[in-house]
Amino acid sequence: MKNRAAYMTELNKMEIREIPMPEVGEQEVLIKLEYVGICGSDVHYFHDGRCGDFIVDGEFMLGHECAGTIIEVGSGVKKLTVGDRVALEPGITCGQCEFCKSGKYNLCPDVQFLATPPVPGCYENYIAFPENMCFKLPNNISTKEGALVEPLSVGLHAAAQGQIGLGDHVIILGSGCIGLVTLLACKASGATDITVVDVIPKRLEYAKKLGATRVINGKEVDVIAEMDKITGGAGIEKVIETAGSPITIAQTPYLVKNGGTIVLVGLAAEPEILFNFGKIMAKEAKIESVFRYRNIYPKAIAAIAEGRIDVSGIVTHEFEFDQIQEAFECAINEKDEVVKAVIKITD
Ligand SMILES: NC(=O)c1ccc[n+]([C@@H]2O[C@H](COP(=O)([O-])OP(=O)(O)OC[C@H]3O[C@@H](n4cnc5c(N)ncnc54)[C@H](O)[C@@H]3O)[C@@H](O)[C@H]2O)c1
Ligand SMILES: [Zn+2]
Ligand SMILES: [Zn+2]
Repeated sequence: MKNRAAYMTELNKMEIREIPMPEVGEQEVLIKLEYVGICGSDVHYFHDGRCGDFIVDGEFMLGHECAGTIIEVGSGVKKLTVGDRVALEPGITCGQCEFCKSGKYNLCPDVQFLATPPVPGCYENYIAFPENMCFKLPNNISTKEGALVEPLSVGLHAAAQGQIGLGDHVIILGSGCIGLVTLLACKASGATDITVVDVIPKRLEYAKKLGATRVINGKEVDVIAEMDKITGGAGIEKVIETAGSPITIAQTPYLVKNGGTIVLVGLAAEPEILFNFGKIMAKEAKIESVFRYRNIYPKAIAAIAEGRIDVSGIVTHEFEFDQIQEAFECAINEKDEVVKAVIKITD
């Protein structure tokens, strides 16, 4: 078997080359990968060499949103078998620390997350991965959808952190991939009135198509005044920030209703942002935040399998493995058009 991997060899440059087949540990399965998504973080590493505090040093393999078929299992593997199609949850944690033990394993300080330097990613044909981080896909879910379980899990965790429930009114700031999966998650969680804000018309079109009650172009109208008009000045119970812009983050205290909840998902480039805490206090509003997700893959997969969430509408572009350079250039240069690009991993 031939294993090939795409390495980022320098800024803005991908090279596919042959690498050894991975060795399969006792508790691991060997997966032939079929789809790997391109995440905003992959694009940042490719284009800028860094994402937040993490810096690419030397050649690096990107990619963390993936699914494929098991072709071999380690001697200690109990539940999964050869032929199972699985989605991989990319963060391997220690299992021993207080966060892991309490179930909040996404906060484990020793997490090894695919494509977060120095841990290599998965733009490759084969990967060996712990059985307990591989989640079986039912027959009616494709591996392309399987690769989208990762971003969807961020949206579902945002909805969970905001305790989105039946009849909730929600505003989502940002309509990129994360805004759209948050929209799907809020709908599936029972929200009945969902406003989506962005500054790119094409992205708002996607939000409308995926079920937003209304969309607002933040470039054309004053979002706070517009929402005041819609809610009669009362504000919105649940405000979810997924744009990662200092402007939208600063809007959240003005948009939230008395006693409401703000959920921060977007990461701004600058860690310190002007924010009106006086408004938060006068409204006794809550601020929740999101770091990836935890204990959500099985729920995400069940929601897709039962038709409660249709993630297929998120994918706007698909590329062959050999076109990975072009795929990244497209994600950078045609940002308005690309919501989610996926790479079909071929031999
Ligand atoms: N917390 C987490 O665990 C987590 C996980 C994944 C991604 N993220 C973060 O979520 C954010 C969104 O990710 P994405 O992949 O969807 O990125 P994206 O760039 O595709 O989407 C951001 C969207 O926000 C819009 N936007 C920018 N300025 C705006 C403004 N002033 N008003 C309204 N909309 C505006 C952009 O037009 C874009 O459509 C990023 O900051 C990313 O780092 C966080
Ligand atoms: Zn991702
Ligand atoms: Zn831990």
